[in-house]
Amino acid sequence: MDWTVPQNFAAYTEAEHGVWRTLYRRQRALLPGLACDAFMNGLEKLDLAGGIPDFVTLSGRLHELTGWQVVAVPGLVPDEVFFEHLANRRFPAGRFIRTPEQLDYLQEPDVFHDVFGHVPMLADPVFADYMQAYGQGGMRALGLGRLHNLARLYWYTVEFGLLRTREGLRIYGAGIVSSATESRYALSSAQPKRVGFSLPRVMRTPYVIDDVQKMYFVVDSLQTLLDVTQNTDFAPLYVSLAEAADIPIGDILPQETLFTKAD
Ligand code: PHE
Ligand code: CO
Repeated sequence: MDWTVPQNFAAYTEAEHGVWRTLYRRQRALLPGLACDAFMNGLEKLDLAGGIPDFVTLSGRLHELTGWQVVAVPGLVPDEVFFEHLANRRFPAGRFIRTPEQLDYLQEPDVFHDVFGHVPMLADPVFADYMQAYGQGGMRALGLGRLHNLARLYWYTVEFGLLRTREGLRIYGAGIVSSATESRYALSSAQPKRVGFSLPRVMRTPYVIDDVQKMYFVVDSLQTLLDVTQNTDFAPLYVSLAEAADIPIGDILPQETLFTKAD
């Protein structure tokens, strides 16, 4: 049982496509200079402007680029099902879209978050490999009882990751690029702490799901993220994490320095 359902593309109303287009235009106008090149390039290649995408057409295009596909699921799926999809280069996406009253905030990921937020990065070959490796790592973490540690890695990279570039900090996290409020806040607000990515550090940092983040982790490149996660055996890390205390959100360790807007 892989929990996939037909997208029922023909059932979307014109009003629902309209909500997509409103969100799309807003983010498309906002993101140049904020989102990283990998995201912007993926967005261009995938042609998502016209309305809620048909997953079959979208998967065809994405498959040509990186071998990934998008499949519809009814909502959140069990962890092992989610990992199994990722490990096989299938991204499970919600098919419902938020209402016009929920443009800025919603609890559960909808098709705009899942497709606009996540799929452009899956058109990048390096990030595509990272997501697959994460799926494989997820199965392993489940077996070792350390999924809560690995989930933090997903949160602080796939959902809320920042990237250091020559032009300054850029966004690659899907939770940020799919939100107008957080796209601005993540790079420009003086409130959140932005610190360099470290694998054990991230896995010791809890997160909140109901507000903008108070902390972001910055990777030097997507390739570094892939290399460091792929080449590290997480099993001994999980063992040491079982003994290590969580680091409260927003705390900065002695050896850490903060990134500022100008970085
Ligand atoms: N190398 C990890 C492990 O040993 C697997 C992994 C790769 C996890 C990439 C997350 C991201 O479990
Ligand atoms: Co997401």
